[in-house]
Amino acid sequence: MDESYYRYIRGWFWKWAWFYNFIALPLTGIRNKVAGMIDSKDKIKILDVCTGTGTQAFAFAKRGYEVMGIDLSEEMLRVANKKNKYENVRFVVADAAKMPFENDYFDCACISFGLHDMPHEVRHQVLDEMKRVSRKIIVVDYHIPKSRLHRWLHVSFASLYESKYYRDFAKRDLEELLREHDFRAVKEAYGLVDFVEILLCERKLLGSG
Ligand SMILES: C[S@@+](CC[C@H](N)C(=O)[O-])C[C@H]1O[C@@H](n2cnc3c(N)ncnc32)[C@H](O)[C@@H]1O
Repeated sequence: MDESYYRYIRGWFWKWAWFYNFIALPLTGIRNKVAGMIDSKDKIKILDVCTGTGTQAFAFAKRGYEVMGIDLSEEMLRVANKKNKYENVRFVVADAAKMPFENDYFDCACISFGLHDMPHEVRHQVLDEMKRVSRKIIVVDYHIPKSRLHRWLHVSFASLYESKYYRDFAKRDLEELLREHDFRAVKEAYGLVDFVEILLCERKLLGSG
């Protein structure tokens, strides 16, 4: 992969890390909703991909799950580690496009607001890796409106603060992308009215169409 993407993302989040928790405050209510998508009483293993400052990872940890958060940005993870008061959460610097985990190691892999911060070919690699390490995934990201006017308003607003990869993400169909990776949505929810989409997906079994 083009080194310029890695440089760009590390630089971008180096700049935003100290301020990120404040910017992401409106998402606070969504974290619990996302964690509630998997309803398990067991101490299951969760991977939080592109974990950033770890807020979603902590919402899983509160439910007693064993959580691993990975991110490219050391600065974002520095903030996550400072906030971490849970024994069942660990953070590791790792590339989501090349994860250092065995096949099917996790019960669920979640990516929240990560897919819009990477080039399209990396999105494919990340989804392949999520599929390799877990049978279930949760994808949380912007819900791009279908109507042209609403989409224009949404994209114009989010482009004011988003990374340069966001516009490409907004042109794509997230559910279509997930289908290309043999995932089917089994639960769907929305947050911040319908600004954010939450999809719990399972890997299709071979021959299940
Ligand atoms: C907008 S933040 C989202 C953080 C967090 N998941 C949340 O919901 O607040 C996107 C994160 O994706 C990370 N990221 C982007 N590309 C990545 C990659 N290939 N591997 C790991 N992390 C990546 C960035 O460093 C950044 O921390």
